[in-house]
Amino acid sequence: MRIGVIGTGRIGTIHANTLSRHRDVGSLILTDTDPVRAQELALRLGETAAPGVDEIFRWGVDAVVITTATAAHADLIGRAARSGLPVFCEKPIALDLPGSLLAIAEVETAGTILQMGFQRRFDAGYTGAREAVRSGRLGRLHTVRAMTSDQAPPPVAYLPLSGGLYRDTLIHDFDVLRWVTGHEVTEVYAAGSDAGPAMFREAGDVDTAAVVLTLDDGTLATATATRLNGAGYDVRMELAGELDQVVVGLDDRTPIASTEPTGPPAASKPWTTFLERFGPAYEAELNAFVEVVRGERANPCDGREALQALRIAEACELSRREHRPVRLAEIPGGAEPVLR
Ligand SMILES: NC(=O)c1ccc[n+]([C@@H]2O[C@H](COP(=O)([O-])OP(=O)(O)OC[C@H]3O[C@@H](n4cnc5c(N)ncnc54)[C@H](O)[C@@H]3O)[C@@H](O)[C@H]2O)c1
Repeated sequence: MRIGVIGTGRIGTIHANTLSRHRDVGSLILTDTDPVRAQELALRLGETAAPGVDEIFRWGVDAVVITTATAAHADLIGRAARSGLPVFCEKPIALDLPGSLLAIAEVETAGTILQMGFQRRFDAGYTGAREAVRSGRLGRLHTVRAMTSDQAPPPVAYLPLSGGLYRDTLIHDFDVLRWVTGHEVTEVYAAGSDAGPAMFREAGDVDTAAVVLTLDDGTLATATATRLNGAGYDVRMELAGELDQVVVGLDDRTPIASTEPTGPPAASKPWTTFLERFGPAYEAELNAFVEVVRGERANPCDGREALQALRIAEACELSRREHRPVRLAEIPGGAEPVLR
């Protein structure tokens, strides 16, 4: 099969690498608004660069992978859907709810496939946590603590395009919270701090955030994120029930030091970026996409799933702005149940 990759920045490069090595992918056509970037990557991978998005559709592909800045996602999803092509798109689906709903409507009207890039659903740790919850061995779940800490901020040019810390980063924790627990979020209370470097204030963003979330079965969750975790890239989720508790992301590379005299030693090679921590999961989600395109498996994360995560992020932005708890029912787009 021939796949068009639109956007050859940080994540586009990773995905193009994976697809270029895939035995069922014959060739790639790569494009980017920065043509040199697409050409250089195409040269490195032995693939073809196209001068623009139009050529991707004109030259003919069997599927499209969208890894552009988020603002372009919804429009490109719609365009691919109208061309009858299956799409893999990076999270979030769009920067806002109207854009997300429009993209989903285009896909549903065309009867095409949209798989969203929430790679934590393919991570061994989160998969194990989901199994632990579903098996009943934790007993009734009462507390979930989720966190995503980047070691260093993204490039300064990325920030104004990102949608902010809730839509860009915590959205992963929101998606995987729903996926692991099997429950919907009904209310959030969010705070954010921009006390760090000025680039966050200047972009109207926060560098650190904390959220309290209530699930529909009464389970309480917290989710925190920061762009400034000097110790390393730290992504974890603790799930505590009446019978047992488990943790995702605790291994010999977790960048945290115990202050206990008999605690474990500090990691000698702590995780530094999402690209290395989630390398196997990025590969697995694209392997799944190829299978979805071939009709060999069901879509593991469609647009409506991604919409729910974005609604939680939108509720957090509202909560932070208005300093109050926000019910998910206040956020448009939630009429139809989507959990499977
Ligand atoms: N799943 C994850 O863990 C993960 C991690 C990082 C980024 N992302 C998502 O991936 C997307 C890209 O992030 P990134 O970190 O690679 O950003 P990036 O800035 O490194 O790359 C984005 C690329 O898209 C190009 N681009 C922008 N608009 C375009 C358009 N209309 N047509 C063609 N090319 C266009 C830019 O020139 C740039 O090269 C974002 O939506 C982000 O949220 C997901």
